[in-house]
Amino acid sequence: MSERPTTAGQQHGRRSWAEPWKIKMVEPLSMTTREQREAALEGAGYNTFLLRSEDVYIDLLTDSGTSAMSDRQWAGMMLGDESYAGSRNFYALERAVQDHYGYLHVIPTHQGRGAEHLLSRTTIKPGQFVPGNMYFTTTRLHQELAGATFVDVIIDEAHDPTDMHPFKGNVDLDKLQALFDRVGPEKVAYVSLAGTVNMAGGQPVSMANARAVYALAREHGVKVYLDATRMVENALFIQEREEGYADHTIAQILREFCGYTDGGWISAKKDSLVNIGGWLAVNDDALFEELRNQVVIFEGLHTYGGLAGRDMQAMAIGIAESVQEDHVRARVGQVRYLGELLEAWDVPMVLPIGGHAIFLDARRFYPHLPQDAFPAQTLAAELYLDSGIRSMERGIASAGRDPKTGDHNRPKLELTRLTIPRRVYTQAHMDVVAESVKAVFDARESARGLEMVYEPKYLRFFQARFAPLA
Ligand code: F0G
Repeated sequence: MSERPTTAGQQHGRRSWAEPWKIKMVEPLSMTTREQREAALEGAGYNTFLLRSEDVYIDLLTDSGTSAMSDRQWAGMMLGDESYAGSRNFYALERAVQDHYGYLHVIPTHQGRGAEHLLSRTTIKPGQFVPGNMYFTTTRLHQELAGATFVDVIIDEAHDPTDMHPFKGNVDLDKLQALFDRVGPEKVAYVSLAGTVNMAGGQPVSMANARAVYALAREHGVKVYLDATRMVENALFIQEREEGYADHTIAQILREFCGYTDGGWISAKKDSLVNIGGWLAVNDDALFEELRNQVVIFEGLHTYGGLAGRDMQAMAIGIAESVQEDHVRARVGQVRYLGELLEAWDVPMVLPIGGHAIFLDARRFYPHLPQDAFPAQTLAAELYLDSGIRSMERGIASAGRDPKTGDHNRPKLELTRLTIPRRVYTQAHMDVVAESVKAVFDARESARGLEMVYEPKYLRFFQARFAPLA
């Protein structure tokens, strides 16, 4: 086994997460007054998705497409081969995915949901079921639009923000077995497995669980497809927490994990350190054939899938950078740094601290607000008012409505996500964020909640508008 590279700090027995890079170019941030923020928030219908980024100071809306690219990635952009067909950048990307994720056939897509669309429409027959370790908004919607019913088979611990289970992203094998028994395996389109489960708070899946899910699915002739969007971060948790993996590299863990699935897809806007891009990759020849037919309809030719050649080159380089030990440690280390500051002030949040974000627990933050008053949306609004920090609701608004009854889905988790972009903000920025959360926490009793005054049909959280309750 190859030895893991160590930082200078680790060689001296210190466990600093300090970044393995320095800053070469900067982008100024705008500072606003409280008055300006009040006007901006009202104009945005109290929805942080509708704010202009110019009105935001520290943008923790998402870690999606918000990474800083390296000098090498920017150099790669200049090597863009913008041929319509057979761009050399496609072959670089294909090679990077095969080497790091281990899948055989690779199809580029413009981003993650492009891959979800293709996978859903080629593998789901109307009336089938798709079990998964908690839903993700776009993933579940594409599965539903293809005619499937999503079934959450994550372990119960994942729905409890205070439970300290080390792998809260795990599939509950009994729940999966129960679904096979109830509907019959032929009615299960595939198992939708996600690394570091976003909606559960960035919680990982263990290697042992992935292995067991794969074995159980195979026994029933059902495929497993992996949402590998944040699988690199999942690999770090396995290295740190799972017996037998402390000496494995992130790259080795990633390859082994993907080996327990039949294919996967990614929003490369997260782990892979690019501003746009994604892919779908499978091992099955016949399915690949079908996907290659579909991608030309919805994304573009199978050697560009909606991307410019330069985007694919930046992605190929980003994939290799994303598995570097010091990079992953610094990335998750920064998230933990923020989380530990808040923990010390008893701010309620999802624990253990996840890989890409701090998820504030709005139920315990605002115990006086009922879920129908959108506590997590309220908390996002209050944080913006306090300091210009932009966060995101991950609660009842994100959960949407039950397609059958039309009623709100009422998730147990009512969370506000402070999502940390990769390689973008400093430790001082994290201090500012922590102090702002504390200020909002200290003023929690004055929060009144929101009502929804405009509701779009699909993925309503993106464009819904709210107004303060009297
Ligand atoms: N899967 C997961 C786990 C995601 O977090 C996302 C996007 C997608 C798929 C879809 O990928 O955005 O490239 O189409 N998550 C973003 C977020 C939007 O903010 O968490 P996409």
